[in-house]
Amino acid sequence: MKSFAVVSSLLLLGAATAQEVQSKPFELIIESAKKSYNGQQLSACHTGAAIESLCLAGNSGTHFYLNTTKGEEAPIKGSGLPGTLVWNLPIGNEPTPVSEPMSFSVDPSTNVAMPLFMPSYSEQQVTFGSDNLLGIYRYYDDTVTPPSDDKVSVLRNWYVCETNYSGYQYSTLNWVLGDAKAKPQNPSCVKVQVKRKFI
Ligand SMILES: *[C@@H]1O[C@H](CO)[C@@H](O)[C@H](O)[C@H]1NC(C)=O
Ligand SMILES: *[C@@H]1O[C@H](CO)[C@@H](O)[C@H](O)[C@H]1NC(C)=O
Repeated sequence: MKSFAVVSSLLLLGAATAQEVQSKPFELIIESAKKSYNGQQLSACHTGAAIESLCLAGNSGTHFYLNTTKGEEAPIKGSGLPGTLVWNLPIGNEPTPVSEPMSFSVDPSTNVAMPLFMPSYSEQQVTFGSDNLLGIYRYYDDTVTPPSDDKVSVLRNWYVCETNYSGYQYSTLNWVLGDAKAKPQNPSCVKVQVKRKFI
């Protein structure tokens, strides 16, 4: 118990001392072969107390940020920095919003994972390449035996799907778990890319 407390306070210290650099605000825009989705912005949509999913919002999307760590380098030469995707939750009369990181809600019954913003710490990193497309670095390949970790690549397993998270039914952005060949089990899912556009 004692050593656990020491380790967790060290972790907290690490999280507190790593200096975060926040990007300029940007919009997230859907690119898809499905015409009615293509060009729509994403918005943080209420899905519970201080919990937001990313839903389709026509041209009234919200602003997002990428928090990177000072001094960190891209794992692939010339590619984007890894960082936390952030949305600011406005709070009633408070002058400063709550900075919420994105993490995935994973349900063992489905391979479709839902990005959510919540007021907590998140280890989930994303990246934007020079094409401004949202991706996630892949460091680990267990499709081979023994599993390998000597090649880094970027995955973009994004889909817009009809979801029902705690009673909130929206068309939301989702991530299909697995490598680039993974297919969503939710039949409503439509393949998309997510593009960053600085405002
Ligand atoms: C992102 O970075 C800003 C600026 O350093 C900081 O105020 C904010 O708390 C960070 N948000 C998260 C979720 O880490
Ligand atoms: C989705 O949520 C609503 C509201 O709680 C509920 O009425 C509906 O039955 C849910 N649908 C599914 C498929 O779970």
